[in-house]
Amino acid sequence: MTHASPITHANAQPCKDLLRLADLPAEDLRELLSAARDHADVLAGHPAGVPASLTGQIIGLLFFEDSTRTRLSFAVAVQRLGGRFVELTELGSSLSKGETLADTARTIEAMGVSRLVVRSRRECDLLEIASAVRIPVLNAGAGDAEHPTQGLLDALTLCDAASDARRDRWRALDLGGLTVMIVGDVARSRVARSSGPCMAALGARVLVAGPGIDERLARTVGGEPEHDFEQRLSGVDAVMALRIQHERGRTELDEEGADEAYRLRFGLTLPRLARMKPGAVVMHPGPANLGVEIDEDAALSQRSVISRQVAMGVPVRMACLERFGSVTRSA
Ligand code: NCD
Repeated sequence: MTHASPITHANAQPCKDLLRLADLPAEDLRELLSAARDHADVLAGHPAGVPASLTGQIIGLLFFEDSTRTRLSFAVAVQRLGGRFVELTELGSSLSKGETLADTARTIEAMGVSRLVVRSRRECDLLEIASAVRIPVLNAGAGDAEHPTQGLLDALTLCDAASDARRDRWRALDLGGLTVMIVGDVARSRVARSSGPCMAALGARVLVAGPGIDERLARTVGGEPEHDFEQRLSGVDAVMALRIQHERGRTELDEEGADEAYRLRFGLTLPRLARMKPGAVVMHPGPANLGVEIDEDAALSQRSVISRQVAMGVPVRMACLERFGSVTRSA
């Protein structure tokens, strides 16, 4: 048996938690992705062949914001690796009695849980939890800040979708020469803040379109502003629509009639998809506002890799659970 090498910060300090992809040196990002890719290959061919590396461990899933994909794919990932999980949401917890997040986290740690997976409404809540406990904390979406595992799964999905029969891009984790356009409510998107930089780290050119896009905002998601969404569509290899985040406060996107106006300018419709290059793909992290960011028929079309993104969530989260924590694996 060997110990998986610990993930380190750029300053070579071991990194206890997975909080932001921006904290990870490029080689650690690649290592996580290649571990995820290996799990994806095993799951595709022979799911029973997955190593039971979390046997005997209990993982805490703490979701203080709603979630379907992230929450259940972490749960599936734990179970694929032979572990078990317990869950806590705000509703029904002692947070309603005024217990702090730090105390809540320490309480769960005291029960012998070996990692915490946390979704929080604000990034500072996640940081508070991470500094309160000794066990690894994995970010499952923090306010409008980052969503690291989504970034990893989006990049990996694109490596898969852009691979030809020889599977070179998949094996090499290489997005070099590809152009991805992220479109939507970028300012409020934690997905874009993880996915854009992760795709750029693998060599993709990232363009950023949508309401209010400027140089500064595009840079926060690792890309360059694209002011002509309509024209550019026919030249990109992938377009990733984002959900309009109505729950994160008011902007012009939340005003009456804004959905219709948005769909007219930026919605992914079948006629728009028809103008894309052969082989170009459409992505969305889900949940989608169907008929606004993307039409249902477009989301279900041949170009869509949305369900592949969902599937990729499992191997990515398996890799993250293993690498953040002292998991032993057979050599
Ligand atoms: C995203 C999230 O919750 O951050 N979805 C996801 O994790 N698959 C995106 C969103 O809510 O728009």
